[in-house]
Amino acid sequence: MDHNDNTSSNGNGRPTSPSPSLYSFHSSVDERIILREMYGRILNNQNDTYFLPADHEEHRRLDLQHHIYTLMLGDLYPAGSLVRKALRPRANRRPKVLDIGTGSGRWVIDMAKEFPHCDVVGVDLAPPRLEGEAPSNCRFEIDDANLGFAHFRQQFDVVHARATSMGIRDYPAFLKELALTLRPGGVLLLGEGEMQLYDEQRRPLSFSEVTSSWIERVFFAGYNAVKTRGGSIDASAMTPSWLRSIDSLIDVGWAKAFIPIGPWIYANERDRVLAEMLRTNCLQYISGLIPLLLSDGYLPESVEKMKREATAELQELRVNIYSRWSFAWAIKKP
Ligand SMILES: C[S@@+](CC[C@H](N)C(=O)[O-])C[C@H]1O[C@@H](n2cnc3c(N)ncnc32)[C@H](O)[C@@H]1O
Repeated sequence: MDHNDNTSSNGNGRPTSPSPSLYSFHSSVDERIILREMYGRILNNQNDTYFLPADHEEHRRLDLQHHIYTLMLGDLYPAGSLVRKALRPRANRRPKVLDIGTGSGRWVIDMAKEFPHCDVVGVDLAPPRLEGEAPSNCRFEIDDANLGFAHFRQQFDVVHARATSMGIRDYPAFLKELALTLRPGGVLLLGEGEMQLYDEQRRPLSFSEVTSSWIERVFFAGYNAVKTRGGSIDASAMTPSWLRSIDSLIDVGWAKAFIPIGPWIYANERDRVLAEMLRTNCLQYISGLIPLLLSDGYLPESVEKMKREATAELQELRVNIYSRWSFAWAIKKP
């Protein structure tokens, strides 16, 4: 039975009995079934809420974003001591890690290398970008997190979901599902970059048709288009409270980091590199937003103009803007 079998649904589209993922990814899966071409880019074909591309260009951007996260955290994950404790070698079994919305698969591969005694599973709407051999202790599945994870109950020691909110319809329900996939004592890790932008004093920028920069215009348009599609784009602000409301979770923690988009301010070489990488990521992200904006009704010439002007602003460092990145974590009651 797959997740499209409504006979076992609990009424909100979530299956109530254990069911496998839609596909276990291997290169012989026909990508024409799971991907589609829209507005000149390749997108996933499972879920209309998530409308960023799933092609090589986007996966290269996600690889860069992965380096940004890793440099920002100084590690592959927040709450390092909790993660290392949960993934310590055990005599009786191999610890297991789950990554939801794995994108290019970079995090899964790096985790599989850092923890060779663990098994790591990556799940996404679209296949990962595997160049060369992936470590033998990792694998990938194609699935939609909105359908729930009845087949993964109490299996994982660490569960990670980073930058997935755009494709999640009901984020509190998603967090409850993730909590159910954890073994007692397991660690849940969440991370998101916000669509809200911040000024030089780190105050939220409010949108104005008259005075806003082109970057703000693009982000504002993207934010609204995601909302129209039902994505939980602003979930990160509420995530710690939602985690605290789940009875099976304890020791909720959170952290936030501001990073300038482009090196208009920096204290040291690490910060300069981070700001520079974020500028490149942002330029690529703007290109990735184009199908979403066109599907939301923007005319091609308006989208082209927004992209051109925002790109020039970023390349010439004409605007001093911060982006904010949020992390949250919790432990499943032992
Ligand atoms: C912005 S990318 C982040 C990728 C990766 N987590 C990272 O941090 O590099 C978001 C990913 O989440 C996936 N995604 C979004 N909604 C999803 C859903 N409902 N089920 C499974 N994957 C989803 C997308 O296909 C995309 O690959």
